[in-house]
Amino acid sequence: MNKNDYSLKAEDILSAQQIRNVLSPQWKQMEIDVYDTIDSTNSQAKRELSAGNVSEKLIVAQMQTAGRGRRGRSFYSPKDMGIYMSLILRPQLNLQDSLLITSAVAVAVCRALDRYAPGKIGIKWVNDIYLNGKKICGILTEAISDFELGALQSVIIGIGINLRPQEFPEELTQAASIGRSDISRNEVIGKVTNAVMEVLAHLKEAQVLAEYRKRSILLGKGITFEQNGNTCRATALDIDEHGGLVVRTEQGRVVTLNSGEITVRNAE
Ligand code: BTN
Repeated sequence: MNKNDYSLKAEDILSAQQIRNVLSPQWKQMEIDVYDTIDSTNSQAKRELSAGNVSEKLIVAQMQTAGRGRRGRSFYSPKDMGIYMSLILRPQLNLQDSLLITSAVAVAVCRALDRYAPGKIGIKWVNDIYLNGKKICGILTEAISDFELGALQSVIIGIGINLRPQEFPEELTQAASIGRSDISRNEVIGKVTNAVMEVLAHLKEAQVLAEYRKRSILLGKGITFEQNGNTCRATALDIDEHGGLVVRTEQGRVVTLNSGEITVRNAE
């Protein structure tokens, strides 16, 4: 059997009721929309916000035809193989604190997925989730802010998790899956939602960043990053209080990276 021919069990069909059954009491009333096929759950969330829908909700899909990743990339979203979910939330945060959402959501996803691969789930800065050196989950956070008020209006938190054993297109050299066919996606979506809601309620507590540092797969490692068109080699030192990556370049300069893409250098 081709690895991507996953036979769907009845309990694995996405269901708002089954997701709700997993939600903690304080989030049980959350609105949940389930799509069979959609371009992108994040794009759907954006359309709803543009149309003036202001309620907090969870949007999930069995598959995405135009799943989006960070930096304009696409996110591979084959039918029934993964989790494709977006949360529309309206946390009461100023713009400075809202920068921590990305790091906090990465911590939340690790907490939720730990039970499926205990002790092996880690974060590659900024917010890719790794298992055994490969990416199993990506997070795309999109904010709608009011700069005049200096406040966040809404945030769309998109989470894509490769769950089932599967083969990936050749170009996705870093991709892998958790490789579990025995867990219902409704359960995983519910657990991830609980963990995200919980972490955002404690966003400003130092413990969240401390956990991010502990789960980082980068600290102490040799990395490369791009700056002004040049590739720089450095060592990853720390995560600062805003979620920035502090590195020491080969020239001995200590620099904080606030965005961008880094690559881990293989042991030399
Ligand atoms: C990344 O790896 O760069 C981020 C990937 C985020 C993918 C998720 S899947 C659900 C939601 N909808 C999208 O189009 N993207 C996010």
